[in-house]
Amino acid sequence: MNSIKFDISKSAHIFKSHCLQQLQPQISLAHKQLHENTGPGNEFLGWLNLPDNISTKEINRIKEAADSIRQKSEVLVVIGIGGSYLGARAVLELLKANSMFQSESLTNNGVQVIFAGQHMDSDYLKALTKWLEKKDFTINVISKSGTTTEPAIAFRILRQLMESKYGQEESKRRIYVTTDEKKGALKNLANEKGYKSFVIPDDIGGRYSVLTPVGLLPIASAGIDIEEMLEGARKACEDFRNSLMDNNASYQYAAYRNFLYQQGRTIEVLASYDPSFHYLCEWWKQLFGESEGKDGRGIFPASLQFTTDLHSMGQYVQDGRRILFETVLNIEKSHSEVLVPDTGENEDGLDYLKNKDLATINQKALEGTVMAHIDGGVPIGILTIPEKTPYWIGYVLYFFQKSCAISGYMLGVNPFDQPGVEDYKRNMFALLEKPGSESTRRELEAKWKK
Ligand code: PA5
Repeated sequence: MNSIKFDISKSAHIFKSHCLQQLQPQISLAHKQLHENTGPGNEFLGWLNLPDNISTKEINRIKEAADSIRQKSEVLVVIGIGGSYLGARAVLELLKANSMFQSESLTNNGVQVIFAGQHMDSDYLKALTKWLEKKDFTINVISKSGTTTEPAIAFRILRQLMESKYGQEESKRRIYVTTDEKKGALKNLANEKGYKSFVIPDDIGGRYSVLTPVGLLPIASAGIDIEEMLEGARKACEDFRNSLMDNNASYQYAAYRNFLYQQGRTIEVLASYDPSFHYLCEWWKQLFGESEGKDGRGIFPASLQFTTDLHSMGQYVQDGRRILFETVLNIEKSHSEVLVPDTGENEDGLDYLKNKDLATINQKALEGTVMAHIDGGVPIGILTIPEKTPYWIGYVLYFFQKSCAISGYMLGVNPFDQPGVEDYKRNMFALLEKPGSESTRRELEAKWKK
């Protein structure tokens, strides 16, 4: 069977594979810390064996809820931010389940999934509420802490719309809450109102939660086969249990990043040649940015969509400051065939491409760009994914989660906390006059006026 491959051979004249081999002792130590639960943040390792540990009962409960959402509604509004929405959004976009041009095979009987609560844009919420007035909809509100401001505001607004449209009783059947098992404002509200609830396990942080009900319920509701996805993740979990880099693509990727970071490459660009990868890149940015960016360390994760961005950021990558390296996502098998037509004339000078498949042209663009960027001094690793199916998406998600944990331990940070995220919240709450924050507010207002 095909598998994921991580290849640095094209950059052989910039760095040799033995450079990575020298990092095997660090990899082995990180592997030991992770698998023996001795590293920092070891209370958040529930994701590590999750593909094996998730119960059939839980999967069936998710599938039943998804069935009932599909029967009742045309639209599912997923409310969440950060790890509470990016994983589901990444999978839906990749499998075209959220696009205008839906792929029928993947979205049969699915609902249209719309997202809210990732920002506080009033124009968006106004337009969404207006649009929802004419739709049959269900809400899945997702928040591990149950107190995050952005989704809490969106939920209050959309719950009010729902209750005025369907009444309290019917709304109870149209609201699904995914949150902590016991604590938080959202859990209290769910108990009080009698909403159906799914649990985010205590030992799984937001950015590692896509294979819990956080991601699985919206994904199943869109008609995507979550069992196939979990099957892929399960295989990845098995494949990446080996501490030796030679047989472990996920660890090769972690070693490559750390090697380049030690050489002063502090920015990683994740480049894809398929726009449906946009949200996978957003998910990846959160995963690595929040896991590694702390204690004054960490690679800055950036993403570009080629060939689109070759006409904007391509110049910088080719020729700007040599502080970045590039990881290319390469899809081996394309699903749709689009040929450049033979028009019988050649007014546009495109006849050299006639009858050529767009996927082949895109692949040549990838190969040409990789060689140009390497000539420009950019180290490149290519991650080849066999195809865009639920199985391989599940596999890829686990690939990145595992490499992120290993990479974070190699870097010497706790990859499972996010202390920095609290700072903006403390200031915002004080400025919004949240009870208990009066003295901080006075300090901040004086600071702002200076
Ligand atoms: O990875 C994380 O933990 C964060 O990005 C959270 O997912 C995000 O802040 C949302 O938090 P919550 O699910 O508590 O609303």
